[in-house]
Formats: sequence, structure tokens, C-alpha cells
Amino acid sequence: MTEKVAITFQGKTFEFPLVEGTFGEKGIDISTLRSTTGLVTFDPGYMSTGSCTSDITFLDGEKGILLYRGIPIEQLADKSNFVETAYLLIHGELPTKDELSYFNHHVVHHSMLHEAIKNLYDGFPNNPHPMAVASAVVGSLATFYQNEISVRDEREIEITIHRLLAKLPTIAAYSYKKSIGQPLPYPDNALGYCGNFLKMMFSTPCEPYEVDPVAAKALDVLLILHADHEQNCSTSTVRLVGSSMSNLFASVSAGIYALWGPLHGGANQAVIEMLEAIHQDGGDIDKYVAKAKDANDPFRLMGFGHRVYKNFDPRSKIIKKLAHQVFEKVKVHDPLFEIALKLEDIATRDEYFLEKKLYPNVDFYSGLIYKALGFPVPMFPVLFAMGRLPGWIAQWKELQADKDFKIGRPRQIYTGKSTRDYVPLTDRG
Ligand code: CMC
Repeated sequence: MTEKVAITFQGKTFEFPLVEGTFGEKGIDISTLRSTTGLVTFDPGYMSTGSCTSDITFLDGEKGILLYRGIPIEQLADKSNFVETAYLLIHGELPTKDELSYFNHHVVHHSMLHEAIKNLYDGFPNNPHPMAVASAVVGSLATFYQNEISVRDEREIEITIHRLLAKLPTIAAYSYKKSIGQPLPYPDNALGYCGNFLKMMFSTPCEPYEVDPVAAKALDVLLILHADHEQNCSTSTVRLVGSSMSNLFASVSAGIYALWGPLHGGANQAVIEMLEAIHQDGGDIDKYVAKAKDANDPFRLMGFGHRVYKNFDPRSKIIKKLAHQVFEKVKVHDPLFEIALKLEDIATRDEYFLEKKLYPNVDFYSGLIYKALGFPVPMFPVLFAMGRLPGWIAQWKELQADKDFKIGRPRQIYTGKSTRDYVPLTDRG
């Protein structure tokens, strides 16, 4: 017999079926709760709410497992590349040689922006935050391709996906170049995805530029590690916007804004600021560990702890190894890296952190690598957005194809004033 969950309310018992996932995780299907009982659920922050079923990403926070379409993140970081991983997330399978070459060709050849987009960059004030610019320009793409943004036409969706993946690096690099007053570069389609982006970011028309393969590889791995993380804040935003049948440009633009917040895409910046503060303060790590443990001090170790991962964050292990490789090969000496290593060593042996299951998360070393590659701190969340783009696309596409597709429309428990009469202005004292 299929297992059910019973809810008793006002003397009556109602039964609800269970939904079971691939690895045995269970949820109560309460879609008929309101129509049968008159009740709604109340769950601020969606701590106990599954908003969808999904075939894309699995994570187990206790065991430190992260799978994209069933493949462990460690294997993808080691053997795949970002474009191939994007294909996997979006299409569900690793591509054949022909499929990869077709996808790669289109992801490369849509990289140029319409010349009129440069006018948008001219319209922003001096030194705008690149995340605000990235979201605004991605949203504006809907005006350039307004006859090809159907959410039900497979071919139009495919072109939009190619355009988004190809153009976001150009949009991101333009934001940076504009903020430092340098000319806007054109993409170089002969280079790989990350090589082209690095060239657009760091080359000028006055000097030759050669892509550093170590930098390109490191960036590629970081993009893979950020490519999806199931129903987080920005992904849920993309799904909710897409659920009104808004086009992919609009949905991704909203996702970028959701990612911008310091509670989501901004933590890697906070790590750098914390390490800099420790450095300026003479490098006294013990003092900061003590502050983090002090219940009366609001200070926390940035880059430590995770809502879901309570053992270790599998991405942080890969990033730590990568950080060692980058610092060794790029030959950059950054005292902040030394501080980070010592800090991790001390904190991961400390009873407080062990007891509370606080381990380095994805943000602990990623900012240090971006910094070593020459990226300015405000670009860090934009790099996160570039990485997360295939995940947003895959989730939006899965939603549109869902047989149970419905506009997202949560309920609420109204706690405001009860019914009362309008008081004319003259009678309002
Ligand atoms: N340093 C010191 N103490 C901590 C820390 C930390 N980084 N993180 C949690 N704690 C303590 C916290 O004070 C609390 O102690 P107590 O039980 O005595 O009140 C306990 O651990 C549980 O903390 P919580 O805030 O209830 O845990 P949470 O699951 O709600 O928060 C977190 C998770 C990531 C917001 C939190 O660990 C944190 O603020 N970390 C630092 C910021 C950070 O690195 N954020 C990046 C998250 S990873 C990016 C992503 O995947 O989106």
C-alpha cells in the first residue's frame, strides 16, 4: 500500500500522498490541502517547502554530495569543461561529439552584442555596479530579439539559450571596461569560452594579449562549480518569473538581481574584506576566531557554514586545491591566501566550529582566486552569475515543459486590520 500522511483538523482526518525522490527523500503532496481542508501551509523562508520536482541537480548536505544530472561535481570539475557542463544541465545528457560541436559553435558565434547596446552603457552614471548593468542589459536583450522570444517555440528557446550563454561574458566584460573608462572590446571567437572572456576583460587595443591557460582553466572550473545548486534564491526567482510565461531574458535578468544580494552572491566579497581586515590588524587570526565564537559579538567567519551542507561543501574542497594551483602557477604572492589557510586550519580544529558543523563553503577561496586572476571585487558576483546561467536556463526550461505547469502564486495569512470604513480627509484630525 502506498504510504500517506494524515492530518487531523476539527475532528476530521485527511490523507495526503507522499512524493519520493531518486535517493529516497520524501515530501508530502499538499496540493489539495486548501481545497479539502480550507487550510494553507505557513513556512517563511521555505525552510520545509519543496517548490517543484526536478531532474537537474541533487545535493545531500549531510554527506557533502552534489550531482548535476547524476554526475558528481568532482568528476565534472576534473574532466569536463563549462560549455559541456552547460549542455549537460540544459539538455539532461552529456553531448555526443556532434552535439557538442554544434552547441559550442552557437555559444561562440552569438557572442557579439548589437552595436546599439553600447548606447545603454553610455546612459549609466559613472562607475555603476557591474551586477546592476549586467541585469539591465540582459533584460534589454528582449527588445533586440522581440520576435524570437516565445516561451513555447522550441527553436526560439534554443536560439535564446545560445544568445544568453554567448553574450553574458561580453555584457560582463563591457560593464567592467566601461567602469574603468577603457574602450569596449569585441569578442574573439577563435578563443575558448573563458579565454575569450579574459581577453575582453584584460586586453587593450594598445598591447598584445595572450590568454594564460592556467587562468582560463581556473575560471572554467569555478564556472562549473557554480553552474547549479537546485532551488536557491536566484533560481527560485527565475522559476517564479518564468511561471508567468515571461521570456528567458526577463527571467534571467530577475535572477541576476536576486543573486546580487549579500546573503546570496555577495559572500565571496565579504570573505576578502574579512581577510583584509585581519591582515590590516596585524594578522592576529586567533583574535578573529575568538570574536566569531563570542555570542555577544555579531562577527562571523565569512565563508564558513552553510544552510544545507553540514559536513563539508564539496565545492570548497575542489576550490581549495584549485587555489593552490593558481597561486603556484600565476606566481602571485597574496598574504590574504596565507591568512585564509591558517584561518581554515585553526577553525576546522576548534571545538566550536566542529560542534556547530561549520566548514569552509564555496565562497571561502573563490574570491582569492578571482583576485589572483585580476578581477576587481565588484565583478565577483557577476562571475557567479556567469557560472549560474546554465542552471537558471535548465530550471526555466524544465518548468516550461512541466506537465503540471502553473503560475507560481503563494498564499498568505493576512494579519492586518479587520474590515473598517473609509474616513474622509476632513474627519481625520
Ligand atoms: N561563524 C561563526 N559562527 C557561525 C557561523 C560563522 N560563519 N555560521 C554559523 N554560526 C553559528 C551561529 O552563530 C549559530 O550559533 P548558535 O546556535 O549558538 O546561535 C549556529 O552556528 C547556526 O547558525 P545559523 O545562522 O542558524 O545557520 P544557518 O544555516 O541559518 O546559516 C549561513 C548558514 C551560511 C548563513 C551561516 O553559516 C553564515 O552566516 N555564514 C557566513 C556567511 C557565508 O559564508 N555565507 C555564504 C554561504 S555559501 C553560498 C551559497 O551556497 O549560497
